Amino acid sequence: MSKVAITVNGQARELDLDTRTTLLDALREHLHLTGTKKGCDHGQCGACTVMVDGQRINSCLTLAVMHEGDTITTIEGLGTPENLHALQAAFVKHDGYQCGYCTPGQICSAVAVLAEIEAGIPSHVSEDLTAAPQATAGELRERMSGNICRCGAYSNIVDAIAEVAGRPA
Ligand code: FES
Ligand code: FES
Repeated sequence: MSKVAITVNGQARELDLDTRTTLLDALREHLHLTGTKKGCDHGQCGACTVMVDGQRINSCLTLAVMHEGDTITTIEGLGTPENLHALQAAFVKHDGYQCGYCTPGQICSAVAVLAEIEAGIPSHVSEDLTAAPQATAGELRERMSGNICRCGAYSNIVDAIAEVAGRPA
């Protein structure tokens, strides 16, 4: 067992954990933040995506004890039902989900994708590595490719993210 102090959605939390506990299980089972989903538990689906110190991460692939002192944002920390984050509102508007199971991970990833584009970071499909990347459908599909949607809501997800990025996909 080990003590872990982390900040989750702006709140300081201290947990007593089996050192083998993943960040995903710490969030879901110990902090009862069940918005973050467990899909594959093997780093393949993106359902467990959260932000750690501003970077997206598959929370099933990392141990909670590795995040001592880190700042973590889950889907619960992005918006509230009364005051949705812009991406949450856009997913609703564009019907960017069906069952909704992948949606928290999709939205956390999309937050990071928009920040990457804003920061001028190229992707594997960027044709000109020296030009500022644009939120084209191709760029968004590539950057969101770690987030699987079994319902196949991809087109609407791209539309939602493109709207927040300020351009039609
Ligand atoms: Fe973590 Fe699938 S549950 S990537
Ligand atoms: Fe069902 Fe994506 S909305 S898995």
